[in-house]
Amino acid sequence: LPEGSKQMIEAHELLRKFYHHLLVNTKEGQEALEYLLNRGFTQDSIDTFQIGYSLPSWDFAVKLLEKRGFSLDLISKAGLVIQRENDGTYFDRFRNRIMFPILDHQGNTIAFSGRALGGEEPKYLNSPETQIFNKSKILYNFHLARGVIRKQQQAVLFEGFADVISANRAGVENGVATMGTSLTEEHISLLKRNVQAVTICYDSDRAGIEAAFRASNMLSKAGFAIRVATMPDGMDPDDFIKVHGEEKFRNDIIGSSATLMAFKLIYYRRGKNLQNEGDRLQYIEEVLKEISTLDKAVEKDLYLRQLANEFSLSLDALAQQLNQLVHASG
Ligand code: CTP
Ligand code: MN
Ligand code: MN
Ligand code: MN
Ligand code: MN
Repeated sequence: LPEGSKQMIEAHELLRKFYHHLLVNTKEGQEALEYLLNRGFTQDSIDTFQIGYSLPSWDFAVKLLEKRGFSLDLISKAGLVIQRENDGTYFDRFRNRIMFPILDHQGNTIAFSGRALGGEEPKYLNSPETQIFNKSKILYNFHLARGVIRKQQQAVLFEGFADVISANRAGVENGVATMGTSLTEEHISLLKRNVQAVTICYDSDRAGIEAAFRASNMLSKAGFAIRVATMPDGMDPDDFIKVHGEEKFRNDIIGSSATLMAFKLIYYRRGKNLQNEGDRLQYIEEVLKEISTLDKAVEKDLYLRQLANEFSLSLDALAQQLNQLVHASG
């Protein structure tokens, strides 16, 4: 570990406990607690995920950590406080926010993400990249989920904190999050060391579906068995659970997730009117391109037949065009 890392983690651990205490036991934290309970968080999930609350104060963390003997230089390198340019004094990065501690894969608190209580920007304020926190290497909740993932030989990949936490409450305990939509090669090799099968369960808004498409390609290149779960009406997993309940989430969303090809068909269909000839031809070509990338002859045949049936095309014509694609790309 680089010098100072141990103290940086200690500072995070101390703040995590204080933030959690402020949320759960104090009057100052009451509004934040009500916000969470209104959203469907439970006391249990607040405890399990050690959620907290940072006061509106400009120097709560500065004073607390200074009193405990941490150097201001160290805690500013850890991203917890920020130095003012004009007079060199320090102020708290996280103020008046719901605090989600981010743990490394050993369970050390190494960063925070603070959610605004209302519509303030940014919605989530994160710790910067530091010597102990590299967002592209960390999957949120991997520490708690690893055992379940190994046992079930299946991981579920979410975008956000609330998705992981609500899914966990719904009994889906093998969930981890990329904390946004960028899945990296480092995330993939971490998963690869633990599991062969991944269900992607990103938000079903435009950005989430685009990201799911990208992630599915990266994961399939890396050799995972993939399924993709989508929600209706642009919802995210947390929204879905709130509206439709835990059982429907388990059965109709996770349990009925699409195979990779089925998801790709959904993906290419989006924003197209298949009654329209131009859209229809484009769709058929996109799907043929996907089919041409399949390794197994049986799969190729299956999807080719589906496509032929759906659009009343001759299998011969499709197979011929498929061959052209294979040779053009090959
Ligand atoms: N995120 C972030 N910074 C932001 C916005 C998002 O780091 N300004 C990350 C967070 O980890 C967030 C995830 O990306 O959980 C997914 O973003 P989004 O779908 O916009 O947020 P939700 O998780 O749905 O947030 P909420 O339900 O609290 O509105
Ligand atoms: Mn507690
Ligand atoms: Mn999103
Ligand atoms: Mn979301
Ligand atoms: Mn959400």
